[in-house]
Amino acid sequence: MSSTTDGAGAPPRPAAELRDVRFAYQGGCDVLDLPALTIGRGERCFLHGPSGSGKTTLLGLLAGVLVPRTGTVQVLGTTLSALSSGARDRFRAEHLGYVFQMFNLIPYLSVRENITLPCRLSPARRARLRGVDANIEAAQLAARLEIAELLDQPVTALSVGQQQRVGVARALIGAPELVVCDEPTSALDSDRRDRFLELLFARCDEAGSALVFVSHDLSLATRFQRTVALPELNTAAGREMVG
Ligand SMILES: Nc1ncnc2c1ncn2[C@@H]1O[C@H](COP(=O)(O)OP(=O)(O)OP(=O)(O)O)[C@@H](O)[C@H]1O
Ligand SMILES: [Mg+2]
Repeated sequence: MSSTTDGAGAPPRPAAELRDVRFAYQGGCDVLDLPALTIGRGERCFLHGPSGSGKTTLLGLLAGVLVPRTGTVQVLGTTLSALSSGARDRFRAEHLGYVFQMFNLIPYLSVRENITLPCRLSPARRARLRGVDANIEAAQLAARLEIAELLDQPVTALSVGQQQRVGVARALIGAPELVVCDEPTSALDSDRRDRFLELLFARCDEAGSALVFVSHDLSLATRFQRTVALPELNTAAGREMVG
């Protein structure tokens, strides 16, 4: 069941819409001040900025892991701060794939169990597999990401680059409408990085998923429809360059 606010016949709401968003961690000053940012359905957006400029914080707001001090964050037309914490967790499981900068894999689960986790948490995510067993979908993603032989391993036995690919497979399974990736290629060699990007783009295109991709590697920006730069300290508005 969808919890978005699109009405029958209405044009779909953007994947994400942020207005007058300011965010501060507890007891601190603002680390993000973003007057406006809209990410269209299916849009591929490259997000960069200096270390500490608030990129991970912005992804946390899009995922509803963080709640803004002022302003609104809407995802698929739903204002995340209007949801309870539990409802935000369910919304995230249903609609969002998140490749975390620190991976956030569940250490006591196998690779396969980590990848299929969103489908166990969200019936809607499972339904979008269209009858394909989640384990089979996980195996296909793992094969494309060259970690098929690791499916039964505990994730604690994996290298950093392998863990990163498990995080990617977990984000993509069940075709979420919005995929956010926090430096997902930082531990990959250039061949694997290119194959990874091909898979990511192909999956997002097939599913119509919007993509927000954080990287310090500016050479990747040309592969995206749009580039958003967060300025240092981010006390001013986010500068936007449409590419
Ligand atoms: N949990 C936290 N508690 C307090 N302050 C935090 C926390 N996480 C981040 N910050 C602060 O918020 C600011 C933005 O951090 P953020 O992690 O969003 O930056 P970033 O652009 O992702 O950096 P990087 O490129 O190094 O990953 C930084 O000044 C950081 O010190
Ligand atoms: Mg970061």
